[in-house]
Amino acid sequence: MVVPETPNKMYYPPSDLQRDAHVPNFHSYLEAYRKSTEDPEAFWRDVADDFFWKKPATGPMLQYNFDVTKGSIFVKCMEGAKSNVCYNVLDRHVKEKELGEKVAYYWEGNSPDQHTTITYSQLLIQVCRCANVLKQMGVKKGDRVSIYLPMIPELVYSMLACARIGAVHSVVFAGFSSESLCERVMDAQSVVLVTADAVYRGEKLINLKQIADEALEKCRGKTSSSVTKCLVVKHHARRTKGGAACSKLQTPWNMDRDVWWDEAIRGSPEDCEPEWMDAEDPLFILYTSGSTGKPKGVLHTGAGYLLYTSLTFKYVFDHRRDDVYWCTADIGWITGHSYITYGPLANGATSVLFEGIPVYPHVGRYWEIIEKYQVSKFYTAPTAIRLLMKFGREPLQKFDLSSLKIVGTVGEPINSEAWHWFHEEVGQGRCPVVDTFWQTETGGHVLTPLPAATPLKPGSATFPFFGVEPSILNEHGEELEGEAEGYLVFRRPWPGIMRTLYRNHERFENTYFKKFPGFYVTGDGCRRDKDGYYWITGRIDDMMNVSGHLMSSAEVEAALTEHSAVAEAAVVSRPHAVKGECLYCFVTLKDGGEFNPSLVAALKTAVRDKIGPIATPDFIQNAPALPKTRSGKIMRRILRQVARNDKDLGDLSTLADPQVVEILFSQRCETTA
Ligand code: WT7
Repeated sequence: MVVPETPNKMYYPPSDLQRDAHVPNFHSYLEAYRKSTEDPEAFWRDVADDFFWKKPATGPMLQYNFDVTKGSIFVKCMEGAKSNVCYNVLDRHVKEKELGEKVAYYWEGNSPDQHTTITYSQLLIQVCRCANVLKQMGVKKGDRVSIYLPMIPELVYSMLACARIGAVHSVVFAGFSSESLCERVMDAQSVVLVTADAVYRGEKLINLKQIADEALEKCRGKTSSSVTKCLVVKHHARRTKGGAACSKLQTPWNMDRDVWWDEAIRGSPEDCEPEWMDAEDPLFILYTSGSTGKPKGVLHTGAGYLLYTSLTFKYVFDHRRDDVYWCTADIGWITGHSYITYGPLANGATSVLFEGIPVYPHVGRYWEIIEKYQVSKFYTAPTAIRLLMKFGREPLQKFDLSSLKIVGTVGEPINSEAWHWFHEEVGQGRCPVVDTFWQTETGGHVLTPLPAATPLKPGSATFPFFGVEPSILNEHGEELEGEAEGYLVFRRPWPGIMRTLYRNHERFENTYFKKFPGFYVTGDGCRRDKDGYYWITGRIDDMMNVSGHLMSSAEVEAALTEHSAVAEAAVVSRPHAVKGECLYCFVTLKDGGEFNPSLVAALKTAVRDKIGPIATPDFIQNAPALPKTRSGKIMRRILRQVARNDKDLGDLSTLADPQVVEILFSQRCETTA
């Protein structure tokens, strides 16, 4: 690996990329950025012109209030316009642009012998058939549909089917537990659940329908369940000969509620008139962790989200007609919603849809797929890069990566070593790395390089996207100019920002707008350097980022304290070589409880069962007591230091019992649970 001579070296866009790029140099970025912020109305109207509107807007491109002291927070885009997102991402290409024969997705299964190709016209047909099935099940405009599926084509079909009939989809990552699914189905009050009989994860076969059934059972226990029908996909791999080996798997069935996807689709008509929706009608809900432990239902609406994901995709990946684009995220997260489903389809792009994992059946799986489909734009997470780095250069050298032109990352800050490995070994020194900063709430990229325009500094998400105005505030809410560090906030909306938290506008206002009236508060810390580059420094709340997934201390603590032996728990993050951060838990046992390996194992299982495998703690330490202030608040700063074995404790004067700290250090765990 080439180690850069100076850590602050800049990487300039390659000239061949600049030749016919959408934004070919830094000057044109600045010029377009200026226009987008000086006259957002004209800028976004231009973008909207590319799409189909059944009825034009009567209101401005953007209207908003970001100031809680002046009234309720709102954002509206293109009031009065009527359209349909599904029509814009499918029919428009098939009917108006003759892209019907173009490949929308190359689906690549968990196992390399599983793959299919889906063209735009095939996709449209499948979506319409699914839309008709949902209608038949009684789904109406505005109803919610929960989707709990692995990365199979039906996941995209069902999302777009919802969009087509005006239903609001709520995709739940298929790695979540039944408890997490239940909570999300109940909050959304979904009328239909779409799921599958099985999920493949490497060698493992997971009985997804059984987990879904447990979730629905739990919902019924709590209220009368809103779910009347459950549409079940038979996994492709289970229909073929190879799948027969797994036929032992028993799919639990409820005759009154459950319907096999294949049987329902079979007789379903191939066309379905789109529901013409108001610009601000909801498109989807996506749950994200909240610091109280209760997930937040981030709500996105149609028109603005369509414009924003489409434009960011086009510019950030400098989309070309003959690209093959691959984003390795799961559609269960916002990255997949915006940059596997909506953004790429809005551009008529060809994408790879990958069900598997990076290390199965071998550690060169990603590189194999890049070669197989001649991927030109590759978007992944720092955690995946760090995982694959461990296997060295050899797995890479077995495959031809010369098709790559641009590579990108998302989800967490990328450390310098991982950046350089990605740039030099994967991108072969030729491909710009677009480090994209954004959130479930922002809908799309907000701080990001443009590959042919922005000189890169490894680890910096560089500059704002068009229409986005970042600012850095200090504790008193004062805007800091020039070189500075503080709270990252945004001064005004862009079309793709969330509109509310589902059925909880008050929490929406409190979480994002209350601390600094007039600004959207991201919850991230940020530094601006002397050249104006933005550097995300990490969360400044109790959220932890494990492998690019946000998690709150509160939700993990709730899972731990449910165990009968535990009196109290506190969870912090600790740096981890692959995951970025991992969970370090402190548990105080009830009187008479014994801290031993079997308890540790039981607690780990409790967290997995309650939230899902992504939340599995790496460390669980006995804490005879927790460090608290005199008013009883846990001092997490100290716990973070114990977890990191950092004894530079500073001011402990607010601590009720300073002795606690010493005991905690003496009982630290060095090895993982
Ligand atoms: C949080 C949002 C955006 C899709 C995936 C995560 C962190 C995200 C970066 C980046 C540094 C990043 C932030 C943010 N984050 N991208 N490029 N550099 N940090 O979506 O689950 O809503 O998490 O992820 O802390 O607030 P999310």
